[in-house]
Amino acid sequence: MRSTIKRVCISMSLLLVFALAKAQDSDIRTTIIPAPAKIEKHEGQFVFNDQTIITTDDMVAQPIVRIFKAYLSARSKSGRVQSKRNSIRFTSKGADDLPDEGYKLNITSEAIVITGKKAGLFYGMQSLIQLLPIEAAEILRLPCMNITDYPRFAYRGLMLDVSRHFFSVAQIKELLDMMSQYKLNRFHWHLTDDQGWRIEIKSLPKLTQVGAFRVPRNGDFGAMEAPRPGEKATDGGFYTQDEVREIIRYAAERNIQVMPEIDVPGHSMAAIAAYPHLSCTQDTSIKVSPGSSFAKWFPDKKFEMYIDNTLNPTSEETYVFLDKVFTEVAALFPYEYIHIGGDECYKGFWERDAGVQAFMKKMNIGSTHELQDYFTSRLNKIIRSKNRKLIGWDEILDGGLNDQVAIMNRFGEKGAITQLKRKLNIVLAPGNNGLYFDYAQSRSDMEPINHGGFSPVWKAYGYNPEYEGLNEEDKKHIMGVSGCIWTENIPSISKLQYMIFPRMFALAETAWSQEYNKDYKGFAEVTLPKHLEKLDKAGYNYRVPTPFVYTDTTLTGKHFHFDLKVPMAGAKIYYTLNNRLPGDADHEYQGPVTFDIPEGKKRILKIIVISPSGRRSVVTNITLDNSN
Ligand code: ACM
Repeated sequence: MRSTIKRVCISMSLLLVFALAKAQDSDIRTTIIPAPAKIEKHEGQFVFNDQTIITTDDMVAQPIVRIFKAYLSARSKSGRVQSKRNSIRFTSKGADDLPDEGYKLNITSEAIVITGKKAGLFYGMQSLIQLLPIEAAEILRLPCMNITDYPRFAYRGLMLDVSRHFFSVAQIKELLDMMSQYKLNRFHWHLTDDQGWRIEIKSLPKLTQVGAFRVPRNGDFGAMEAPRPGEKATDGGFYTQDEVREIIRYAAERNIQVMPEIDVPGHSMAAIAAYPHLSCTQDTSIKVSPGSSFAKWFPDKKFEMYIDNTLNPTSEETYVFLDKVFTEVAALFPYEYIHIGGDECYKGFWERDAGVQAFMKKMNIGSTHELQDYFTSRLNKIIRSKNRKLIGWDEILDGGLNDQVAIMNRFGEKGAITQLKRKLNIVLAPGNNGLYFDYAQSRSDMEPINHGGFSPVWKAYGYNPEYEGLNEEDKKHIMGVSGCIWTENIPSISKLQYMIFPRMFALAETAWSQEYNKDYKGFAEVTLPKHLEKLDKAGYNYRVPTPFVYTDTTLTGKHFHFDLKVPMAGAKIYYTLNNRLPGDADHEYQGPVTFDIPEGKKRILKIIVISPSGRRSVVTNITLDNSN
């Protein structure tokens, strides 16, 4: 801030509570996340009453009608308002011209008509639900309007790592419900890693008998005590094949395809603990990692492993193993892609192994990166033989792999452009663009422990994968975008929810909404408060927004005027100027306020937002500096 500013007026972008309702009336588009492609508003209202009938002429819409009726009966207290007969109709007649997953939602005073094919009908219903009030109401009314909506990207994903911490079938179903409400349609299930193998493979029972459990530990991931000799591995879990089928069925009912990830040849410590012959070292003392240290990381992002977590790519037994695993995985998962990981594969054990070196010489393989290519190509053949396609993280291309594979890009622009120019299909999930939800949501040291990085909600919202320099042909290879939740530091459902919300809402808009309809101000000021209110009422955890984008700033001047807006309906703002952490016993912000700071002094204004259910934001610190 320039020191010449003597009067600082901060007009906050976030809305006052009473303004919220007004804004919703005047711009209904902003109540739906993700923002629909087009809305035309009309005069009049549709009023739900005891004569309202919900119908469909379409078999595929019957489960959708059931879900909608169940929703409505929990929300509506209507029944006493006698009125004319009106209807809510789900139909696929007239849907032929709609893009995949698109829908029309037409509300007149006589009828609500949702037109779409199967997924479109489901999404039309989700939009209709979002237009209804959060609270059960005596009389439900909706303003008349026509919505035409369809997605920007076909792949709208969320990845969950269930290896570092295990989440139950019920918890995953809840996540799938949330995803589907926000029109996300790919659940990427990171099922295996160094800290646990989570999927039953019937022909390899030790993968779960041994690989799904680790010694119990509390503490910070990466710094846990290593397993002691003879110590029992009691912490973990896995999904039986019946449970996997149930998750896939439940997801499909909600228009979500499930993509499994089996991370190889690196990140395989749990598999090696079960079957030590799979690694070069064949070290039988290797255990499933409880989050203890097993690598040194250097500033150039290179790393050195001192516990072997890498499959031996030169052994036929490895491919026998992979064939068994991927045969069962392909039989379970109908989705066209199988993710093979391929990230962070440490090559040191390969480099030091005489057998591997002899193999490379014999096969004329010049480097260990090319050796990973050899591995990936062989796995690609296995996957293709099961009528599935291979997708992997960026690193599978490091050796110059020539296969036509798909890439899940986590490093962003530079690699993405190269991959797209090669005509590879890619999903964009760059951590530094806000799509790694294990990263910090602000720079405040009050954020719960996280994986570092900086992924505030506005980054996830602002991300546009259609980089400059890409032509229309290149863009056709962008499958879509994905958020990623790595769970090293996420041991509970409450923490998971905190890390997901509100970033998942931003992801939904980045994935679905047309770029020309994206508008962060409207999203943060009008739409988000409504959806946070819904989470708050439903008892979910989420990050309570702060009234400023940055949580630590310095302003210089003498008089400091603040006109703050409450970032969610019903929330309250409290502050201190005495260096103490603010809480609900401190000054309550009740309207524009001016602080006069004596000449030569500084004060720190500390602000907290407390939600209606009592959830607290991190504290914003604004140094008010009149010292020079
Ligand atoms: C990754 O972030 N290691 C895929």
